[in-house]
Amino acid sequence: MRHNLQSRNKQSRKKLALLGASVAIGALALSGCGSQKGQGNAEAESGSGSDGEVTIALLLPESKTTRYESLDKPNFEKYVAEANPDAKVKYSNANQDATQQQQQVEAAVTEGVDAIVLDPVDASAVSSALSKAKAKKIPVISYDRFFEGADYYTSFDNKKIGNLQGQAVLDGLKAEGVDPKSGPVWMVNGDPKDPNAADFKAGAEETLKAAGVDIAGSHDTLDWNPDDARKWVEGQLQSADEDPIAIYAANDGTAGGVLAATKKAKVKPVVTGQDAEVDGLQNILRGDQYATIYKSIPPQAEFAAKAAVALAGGEEPEGSTTYKNTPTDFVEAKVVTKDTVKDIVGDQIKAEDICTGGVKKLCDDAGVK
Ligand code: GAL
Repeated sequence: MRHNLQSRNKQSRKKLALLGASVAIGALALSGCGSQKGQGNAEAESGSGSDGEVTIALLLPESKTTRYESLDKPNFEKYVAEANPDAKVKYSNANQDATQQQQQVEAAVTEGVDAIVLDPVDASAVSSALSKAKAKKIPVISYDRFFEGADYYTSFDNKKIGNLQGQAVLDGLKAEGVDPKSGPVWMVNGDPKDPNAADFKAGAEETLKAAGVDIAGSHDTLDWNPDDARKWVEGQLQSADEDPIAIYAANDGTAGGVLAATKKAKVKPVVTGQDAEVDGLQNILRGDQYATIYKSIPPQAEFAAKAAVALAGGEEPEGSTTYKNTPTDFVEAKVVTKDTVKDIVGDQIKAEDICTGGVKKLCDDAGVK
């Protein structure tokens, strides 16, 4: 679908490098990024208002993982306003419903927005709606989860996140003095419709297999639902010959489901997660979960916001790299354990949110303030 992009009067569009480096923390220099209504969307231009008045649709996949509503959305809005104070953001959340998201994309196309920023529940389910956007020359940005035909993509290197997760499992075993080859490891992966979940799984598998780990069970968690994760682990604990030495969970939500099952069965494998959510960090401080992955959301939202404003104004963001032929910017992620929770508290994660009730004392012990 890249040819659609090529057909978008490419010569008339200014190339725009969002950042020279692949690590995104810091200020973005965006010179020559003035936007004019309609350049990014010829058909919506008729009857347009003053220069700079553009509408950008932001479509996020769900609201159970806290990052989307509490970090991605407000940061995106903030950086759009910074790049163009006259730009409007039209926000929709699909609540994990692919059909609903398809309708949301179609509504944005019908409305004639100037750019669509989409984090798909199921990329295959929105492809026809995206073709309609292409037909109307509305630029589309792939946010966090990749889909074909995007004009720009920003995310984390998701395979690398999987590698980090696999390494965290190995480190957790080492910390307990457990030989990674001494028993079975189970994998509780993310939603099979989410392309990132496949990358997390592939990366984690690669790292675990390289260490000679026996992956004795693997489950794709439907809709990232913690309850589905819990039920699978409960069933496994009943039927498997041997209890696991570790359970890889693709995010903190599914790790919560895993822990509900292991606690009930009174087994204590090494458990890991992702997203550095409050619950996950509390589980880490309690010693129930070994690690999570911290993703700094503001730089990702900033990349997307600046690219959206640029595309809506008829400019073409370049990105510091390419992913599947799409201009891309990646943000760096890192592993967090009990020892490093203190290093990530700040703007995104507040100590007062984690250090409540019984966790207060654990925060003191771990130097989290
Ligand atoms: C992934 C995303 C993760 C996590 C997960 C659950 O695609 O990269 O950060 O939030 O979805 O929604």
